[in-house]
Amino acid sequence: MSEVEVCDLKKSFGSIEALKGISFSVNKGETVALLGPNGAGKTTAIKILTGLILNYQGKVLYRGRLFSPYDNKIKRLIGVVPQYNNLDKELTVYQNLKLHGLLFGLSSKKLNGKIEEVLDMAGIKDHKDRKADHLSGGMKRRLVVVRALLHDPEILYLDEPTIGLDPAVRRSLWDFIVKLKSKGKTVILTTHYIEEADMLSDRVLIMDKGKVVAEGAPQALKSSLGKFVLEIHYPEGIKEEFFNSKEEAMRKAKFINYPVRIREVTLEDVFLKYTGRRIEV
Ligand SMILES: Nc1ncnc2c1ncn2[C@@H]1O[C@H](COP(=O)(O)OP(=O)(O)OP(=O)(O)O)[C@@H](O)[C@H]1O
Ligand SMILES: [Mg+2]
Repeated sequence: MSEVEVCDLKKSFGSIEALKGISFSVNKGETVALLGPNGAGKTTAIKILTGLILNYQGKVLYRGRLFSPYDNKIKRLIGVVPQYNNLDKELTVYQNLKLHGLLFGLSSKKLNGKIEEVLDMAGIKDHKDRKADHLSGGMKRRLVVVRALLHDPEILYLDEPTIGLDPAVRRSLWDFIVKLKSKGKTVILTTHYIEEADMLSDRVLIMDKGKVVAEGAPQALKSSLGKFVLEIHYPEGIKEEFFNSKEEAMRKAKFINYPVRIREVTLEDVFLKYTGRRIEV
């Protein structure tokens, strides 16, 4: 049985169709990335799955049981890292964690041990008495991630875990997420960073304009196109051709009278194939 099953989810905001019917399932211990550009519907999907949007069409099942946002048994299974940090800026790191834990009904005694554990995990133990607002961007994000772990959820939602972070900090957060994966958690994350989806997920759902346009393991999605890309830089724009070896691409390149570049296939190429656009545009 799947941990999470989503059937034909639809959601409109007035005339905007944010989700036009998406379906997928996630197995226990799997990491699935929803990859898509701004407005693809990623956050809307996460909000429905975590009970923050109540009014929608379609079905969500957790371990075969129909999800209701009022079902505390299911909600205890879930931890959520929202797209934007919603820390209480005036409270310290420790107080932020304590408040969250108490809201989840953890006893004060259990919570104290748990807070020490997650502070350690996030590498912010020495900062526990600082105001949350005074942390660096990377520390804030790590705090929000470990806050979601206080009640030991089995399924973790990470909405754009590394948004706005510089590349080095992003990488350290990736290492951290990889550690969570190794603890057997089921992780559903959203991102518009190609590399992030590639690096972290077992399976990617490429989303665009409220739909899932392609789905598969990153490697399988990429190799469905080939291994290497020959980019031909025509005056009117770049055209791409795919090859299974660098040698084949180089052989073809010799006959081209325009600037060329040979590189490995990325998920960006997959996105381009299914949507006709680049993801960052
Ligand atoms: N509360 C809302 N009211 C009106 N429109 C909304 C609301 N929430 C989302 N939308 C619209 O629904 C569409 C999907 O938005 P959503 O936030 O789910 O996209 P996203 O994939 O998470 O994008 P981003 O990468 O920018 O976070 C967008 O067109 C957005 O403007
Ligand atoms: Mg979003």
